[in-house]
Amino acid sequence: MLLFSALYIQVQGQEISYYGDIKPIVDRQCVSCHRAGEVGPMPLTSYEEVSAYGRMIQYVTTSKLMPPWYADPSYAHYSNERVLSETEIKKISNWVSSGMVTGKEPDVPIIPIENHQDRIERKPDLVISMSEAFEQYGVYLDQYQVFILPTDLAEDTWIEGIEFVPGNKKIVRFASVSVEPSDKFDSLDRWDPRYGYFSFGGLGKTPEEPFWYTWSPQQETSFMTDGTARLLPKRSNLLLHIHYGPTGRPQKDSSVIQLYFAPPAPVQRLMTAPLINPYVITGDSLFIPPDVKKVFHASYMLPYDIELSDLTPQANLLCRSWEVYAKLPDKATPQKLLKIKEWNVNWKQTYHLETPVVLPKGTVIHALAHYDNTLDNPCNPSEKPVPFAWGAHLFSEMFFVHFGFRAVVSPTPDVRICMAPVVSDSSLEVLLKLDKTYIAEILISNASGNASAMLEARRFQKGSHKINVPIGSIPYGNYTMTVKDKSGKILAEQLFVKMREYGL
Ligand code: HEC
Repeated sequence: MLLFSALYIQVQGQEISYYGDIKPIVDRQCVSCHRAGEVGPMPLTSYEEVSAYGRMIQYVTTSKLMPPWYADPSYAHYSNERVLSETEIKKISNWVSSGMVTGKEPDVPIIPIENHQDRIERKPDLVISMSEAFEQYGVYLDQYQVFILPTDLAEDTWIEGIEFVPGNKKIVRFASVSVEPSDKFDSLDRWDPRYGYFSFGGLGKTPEEPFWYTWSPQQETSFMTDGTARLLPKRSNLLLHIHYGPTGRPQKDSSVIQLYFAPPAPVQRLMTAPLINPYVITGDSLFIPPDVKKVFHASYMLPYDIELSDLTPQANLLCRSWEVYAKLPDKATPQKLLKIKEWNVNWKQTYHLETPVVLPKGTVIHALAHYDNTLDNPCNPSEKPVPFAWGAHLFSEMFFVHFGFRAVVSPTPDVRICMAPVVSDSSLEVLLKLDKTYIAEILISNASGNASAMLEARRFQKGSHKINVPIGSIPYGNYTMTVKDKSGKILAEQLFVKMREYGL
C-alpha cells in the first residue's frame, strides 16, 4: 500500500497534503456533521482532529460508511446526495497511507463555517415548538418519540416553506412531520408518562398526510417553487416523530417547526402519499415467517400525470434492500428512481430527486424490497427468528414508499378537489371548489381503474361544497376520486389510499 501511494504521489507530481487536498473534501463532506454541537461523534475541523482519526477515516470512506448515504449513486441522483467521488476516496486513502502530510496553510484566512445558515431573511409566519424539553435516556440506545403539536389555525392554510430546527443537533438523527386534523393520536400519547409517546417504526395510527415533511442532518429550509404549496388543514395537529441517536449521557431536546405561508389559492398542491404500500403487493401479503428470506414486489399505475419530486422508503429491521422504478407508457427503458443496497433503519432519509420527473398517466411504479428473517441478518431483533407481520413496532415490518408529488394540470382549473391523501375512517370528507356552476358527477375508482362507483351526479353551484363520502364498505387500497362534467370530461381528480387505522 505504501509503495503504491508513493508511486501515486510521484505520478501526480505533487504531494497530497491536508491543506491542499484533504481539508477541502472534509469541509464540504464531513464538517457540517463533524463539528462541535453536531451529530457526528467527533469534530473534524483541523489538521490535529482529522489526523488523529486518520486510519478510521480511511476505513469509513473506502467502505462508504461515511458520509452516511444509502442510495446507490450509480442508479439515480438526488439534490441532497452525500457521496464522495472515487477520486476523493482515493485521495483520502493515499494521504493517510503516505503519512498525512500537513502541507502549506493558505495565506488567506480560512473562513469558519457558520453554525447556522442565517440566509433566510424572511420571518416565519408560524413557529410551533415542542411544549416541553424531552430528555433522552443516556444509555447508548436509539430512541424514537412522537410529539403531538397543535397548530390552532382557524382556516385551511397553504404552506410554501418549512423548516425544522432541531433543539439538540447532537442527538436528532431524523425527524418526520405528519398531519392529522383530529385528536385521535391523544390516546397513544396517554399511555407514555413522558412527554410524547414512544413509537419505533411508524406513528402507531394512520394520519391523513404522513411524511408531510422530513428532516435529516445537514438539511436546510426548503421552499417550494413554481406556485406549489402544501396544505395544512385547519386545526391540524403536527405529529413530529424524532429519531434520537445514542449517547452516553442523558441529553435534552426541544425542537421547533417554522412555517412560511403561501399566498392564497390558487396554488398547486404538493402532497405526499404512500402509493407503494402493503395493499399493492403482488400476489402476497406483508408476512415474513421465521427463517425465511422474502422479496416483495408491488406496483401501482398512476391515474393521471404527476410531477414526482421525492421518495421516502419506510421499513423496519428485517428489510435489507429497496429498488424503485417507473415504467412509462411510451418508453422501453424504465425510469430509475431509487436503489438502496443496504437498508439501514437508523439512517432514514427522504430522497429528493435532482430534478423532478414527470410521470404520465398509465406509468406503472414498481417497488421491490428484500426482507431477511434469518440469523444471516445482523439486524434481526430476535435471537430465534419469530414471525413478522405488518406493524409499526420492533417485531413487525413495514413496506411503504411515500411519494412527494404534484398533479400536472392546467394552471387555473375551474374545479378543484381538496381531500386527505390517506383515509382510515369509514367516511371521507371531500371539499369541492368550483369557479362556475357545473352539472357534474363524482366517481370513485380503484387502482386498476376497472371498477368505479358513482357517488353523486347533480348540479353544483359555483362555490365550495363539502361532501361526505361513505367508504366503509370498499376494500383497503389505492383509489382515485374523479369529477366529470356531463359530457364525461374530467374536471378534477385526486388519488388517495384507504388504509387501516393501525397501518402507519
Ligand atoms: C450527516 C451527518 C454526517 C456526515 C455528513 C458525516 N458523518 Fe461521520 N458520523 C456521523 C454520525 C452520526 C456518526 C456516528 C456513527 C453512526 O451513527 O453511524 C459518525 C461516525 C463517524 C466516524 C466514526 C465511526 C465509528 O464507528 O465511531 C468517522 C471516522 C466518521 N464519521 C468520519 C466521517 C467522514 C470522514 C465524513 C466525511 C467524508 C463523515 N464522517 C461525514 C455523521 C456524519
